[in-house]
Order: sequence, then structure tokens, then C-alpha cells
Amino acid sequence: VEISVAAEDLELSGHEHYMLKEMREQPDAAETCLRGRLDERFATARLDGIGLDAREMRGFRRVKVLGCGSAYYVGQMGAQMIEDLARIPADAEAASEFRYRRPIIEPDTLYVAVSQSGETADTAFAVSEIKRKGGRVIGVVNVVGSTIAREVDGGIYLHAGPEIAVASTKALTNMGLAFAMLALHLGRLHDLSFADGQRILRGLERIPAQITQILDDEPAIAEVAGEIAQAASTFYIGRVRGFPVAREGAQKLKEISYVHAEAYQTSELKHGPLALINAQMPTIAIIPGDDLAKRNVAAAEQVLARKGPLVSITHPGVELDHLGVRSIVVPKNEPELDPILLTIPTQILAYRAAVVLGHDVDKPRNLAKSVTVE
Ligand code: G6P
Repeated sequence: VEISVAAEDLELSGHEHYMLKEMREQPDAAETCLRGRLDERFATARLDGIGLDAREMRGFRRVKVLGCGSAYYVGQMGAQMIEDLARIPADAEAASEFRYRRPIIEPDTLYVAVSQSGETADTAFAVSEIKRKGGRVIGVVNVVGSTIAREVDGGIYLHAGPEIAVASTKALTNMGLAFAMLALHLGRLHDLSFADGQRILRGLERIPAQITQILDDEPAIAEVAGEIAQAASTFYIGRVRGFPVAREGAQKLKEISYVHAEAYQTSELKHGPLALINAQMPTIAIIPGDDLAKRNVAAAEQVLARKGPLVSITHPGVELDHLGVRSIVVPKNEPELDPILLTIPTQILAYRAAVVLGHDVDKPRNLAKSVTVE
């Protein structure tokens, strides 16, 4: 495989950090990921690289997503999209655990390995273990011709361009898009209606411009970040579709700002961690404008009643102002696709917190861009 990379892709081109440059490249990267894959005629996604025909794709009774770190959290988002749109049981697991626990490989399960680099040893090992036992595995991978890309039966390339910052941003967003297209594709082979297929296509088409809108809000997010940077510990809360967003948000903050962050299901807050809430413990709450908004707002009130500082990442129309909550308002898309967009402010938040604290944003201590050893 011949890989050519334009020199400007590897330069900072006036940006302060690679992470900032890569965050700002997201609208274009998303556009490239979607290009040529949205099939209007059949209201589905065309995934030519997948290497499995319609009959094989229809035959899967379960989907298992495997990845590490951020890729694992986006995998959780993806599993939820597959359940939502295709109504096939799906879940995500850390590839690093899977390889050590004598996993049961089933012939009617579609395995999906997610990796920006395509070189993460834990994920690559999971792939070879699945293949050795006769399972079907596809890749959701950025780097063309990488170890995982070569080993899988087929897959969806992310087309995000080279990602240099350790903390993944544009590749992650494109992973979300790749999963949305996979879910749409599987959905249209099952019960998803033509109209719903079109609804998702329209939603995907809106995403690049909506990312630009979020990036334009950077100064407001930076203000919040200044405060988060001073905390010793923080909570990220979300539920159902919002929970992987919270997990990824917490991961980013830990990775680059070294501020402790713990992700929790909003619904589980009252079953324990509420005891930790006080004026020194900020909570970042993911509150999409969906059917769970009321319950999420009620949980926010519980935090506020214990004097916990609260920042929401939310949609227009969710009533929080009267509570005195600071909100980062993200443009609304379709409920199934919203997690992709809700994640972007968490990148900016982590980035700005790390900058305030003077850390080496692109090369956080103790971490490597891809972990190719055990
Ligand atoms: C490392 C990085 C993480 C990344 C993970 C998966 O642990 O520190 O930021 O999410 O690898 O990388 P991959 O290339 O497989 O997506």
C-alpha cells in the first residue's frame, strides 16, 4: 500500500498546538468521511470497503465493538447507534480486557475493531484472536494499510488525515460518523424505514456545518475551562446516549490537563457518588434535549442543592438558566447522532484547561499516541 501525506498535513500551519489544529480540521475531515457514502436513492450508507455482502450483513444477530481508550468510548456510542437504528443487540468492550478473558466467538456476531492508528496491540490481538476462531471482523480505522486494517475482513476508513496530538479529536469524530453509517446500513437491511433512513442522511449532512458552529463557540467554552482547571476533581455525568460522551469527556480532561475526572451515569449519581458533591467538586452534565431531559435537569438540581458547581453541555430549548447553571449549547441534530456533536465541547474544554495549566498538550506525560506493546 502506498501512503502519501501532504507536507502541510504534518505542520502546525500557524496553530498553537496540533490538538487545536486537528480540532479545527474537523468540519473538513467530517466532510471527507461522508463523501460518496451517502446513498440518497436507497436512503442508506454505501460502505464499499466492508467486504461482506447484504446477505451476510443481514445474518448477524449481534454486534461486538472492540477498542481501547477513546476508541472504546466511541465504540460505546456506536453500539448504541446500532441498537437504535438496526435493533440488533450491540455492545462495546475494552479490547485490552477482551484479549485476556477467554471470549466466546460466535459465528453470527459481527466484530468491529476501532482504532485511529490501527496499531494498538491490545486491539490488534483481539482481531487476530477473533479471526483465529473463525469470527467475522471489520475495522473502523484511520491509518490506511496499518496492522489492523490489513488483518480485518474489510472495514470503514475514517479519512481524517494524519493525527499527531496524542489526544484524538478529528479521528474520534469520524469514528462516530463511521458508526452512524454502519448503523444506518445495518438498519436499512433490517427494519429501518426509508423515511427514517432519509432522516439520518439529512442529519449526517448537517454535521460538518454544526461542528463549525461549535468551534465558533470556543471562547465561551474557554471561560468554563479556566474554572475546571482549578478543580482537584470533577464529575462528568450523562445517561444512555449521553454516557459515552461523559466517559470520553472525562478521559480527555484526565489525559491532557491531569485534573481528576470521573464519569458516572446520571441515574447512578443518587446511588453513591452524590456524597462527594460539594462546592469544590464541579460537575459537567451532558443534558441533550431529548425525552430524558427532564430527568437530567432534576439530577442537575440535586447537584446544585449540594452546592456543587455545574456546567451543562446541552441543546437549545433545555431550560436551565433559571437554575443559574452555565450552559454550553450545542446545535441539535437527530437524537441518534447527537453524541457525536455533544463530544466536541469536551475536547475544547480539556484542551483549554490543559493550556491554562501550562501542560504539553500534544504530548501528555506517560502516554503514547499508540500503544504497540503489551
Ligand atoms: C492510547 C492513547 C489513547 C487512544 C488509545 C487508542 O492509549 O493514549 O488516547 O485512545 O491509545 O488508540 P487507537 O490508535 O487504537 O485509536
